[in-house]
Amino acid sequence: MSRNNFNSKIGAILAAAGSAVGLGNVWRFPTEVGNNGGAAFILIYILCLFAIGMPVMLCEFIIGRNTHTNAITAFSRLAPGSWWRIGGVEGVFVAFLILSYYVVVSGWTLFYTVESFSGAFVAPMDYGQFFSDFVSDPWLPLIYAMLFMLMTHVVIARGVQRGIERFSKIMMPLLLFIIVVLVCCTITMPGVDKGLSFMFKPDFSKVTTSVFLNALGQAFFSLSLAMGCLTTYASYFGPQTKLLSTASSVIVIDTIVAVMSGVIIFPAVFSVGVEPGAGPGLVFITLPHVFLTAFDGMPVLGYVFSGLFYLLLFLAALTSAMSLHEPVTAWVHESMGISRHAATSLVSVMCMSLGVVCALSFGILGDWHLFGMTVFDLFDYVASTILMPLGGLVIALFVGWRLSRKIFYSEITNTPANLLTDSQMSARIPRFIFFLVRWVAPLFILLIFLNGILK
Ligand code: PHE
Repeated sequence: MSRNNFNSKIGAILAAAGSAVGLGNVWRFPTEVGNNGGAAFILIYILCLFAIGMPVMLCEFIIGRNTHTNAITAFSRLAPGSWWRIGGVEGVFVAFLILSYYVVVSGWTLFYTVESFSGAFVAPMDYGQFFSDFVSDPWLPLIYAMLFMLMTHVVIARGVQRGIERFSKIMMPLLLFIIVVLVCCTITMPGVDKGLSFMFKPDFSKVTTSVFLNALGQAFFSLSLAMGCLTTYASYFGPQTKLLSTASSVIVIDTIVAVMSGVIIFPAVFSVGVEPGAGPGLVFITLPHVFLTAFDGMPVLGYVFSGLFYLLLFLAALTSAMSLHEPVTAWVHESMGISRHAATSLVSVMCMSLGVVCALSFGILGDWHLFGMTVFDLFDYVASTILMPLGGLVIALFVGWRLSRKIFYSEITNTPANLLTDSQMSARIPRFIFFLVRWVAPLFILLIFLNGILK
């Protein structure tokens, strides 16, 4: 079967960065910073990104680029007939599960974009009530989730180059541009000093072991690790793509967007004087109120600011949703022998069916509990607390202990395995990364996992 690669190196970087930059950066990261002591958390987070996130990302790149196939077949090809295949199965399954509830929250971002551009937030109102009326409505969240899924579907159905690559090349620069505009607005606000010192002045008295573990969990989620996404995207990387520099660029872009989101949110929050660690309600309840108050007397600016902010969230969510759809579609298409179009439709319909249950779990299915959680919470718990760390562990163990070292060095150095020289095999940086993959990543991942399930 002939298979397309990304057309350019920058296309590969922007697609992977599009996967990484998502709701996790704009919404989850500032909340985690707020709850875990500001800048001290950021420092620990950056340490986790480079010591654990980067090695696991490289493992996914190596597995994907070496096999040029979907995440499940990739494992079977590298370790035929073995249990390691579970690493791929887990990825595809989790991507499917996450997509089914990610579209629900993404649908909210679409609704808020439409509402804020149509002027709904320019006059004061009870934002908490507005939000709960919306999410518990039997139809509206469903319609928006479906619209969002349809957009994701259209991109994926167009394929790797004309869909994922082309849209990432348009959406990522637009997203970065919006961030810069929003940062320029917030740094003129009265709460800017307080907001920035909250973000950038470390308070080490707040650092406990759970801060480390939260930072690691956030790093995993934010880099889209262990969901088959990066393995699948890497299977479209060309032979010239340098894995180490691609991974570093993705991590740098992801971190800049996360930190900038904090720079957008905290000065606004402090200008209005609400508590920073306001939890998930931060984006949909606190912020509309914050924007209105912060731009009191400048309604046009407030209108543009809030519209752009929700547009930013929406774009970030869309590029991430594309990367969750693709691993499942690629697997269905390549392993079941059906056309890419049919595979895309099958995945969209199946995912949306589960998405309906997730969306309704905020309203008419709110009393329906499994293991004491709503369907939405259950999916999130199973995917991000249990399967994601386990998947990361399998990937790191696979590359660190099972995969031939030659493949590791050959992919890292872009040299065919039979031409590798001794000096390439003993170069310091790849050896150091190999050490991180083999020892550091598995041990730390095991810690997050135990912390997650024993909490
Ligand atoms: N990394 C995305 C974010 O920060 C979320 C995501 C997870 C996307 C897993 C794809 C796969 O929101």
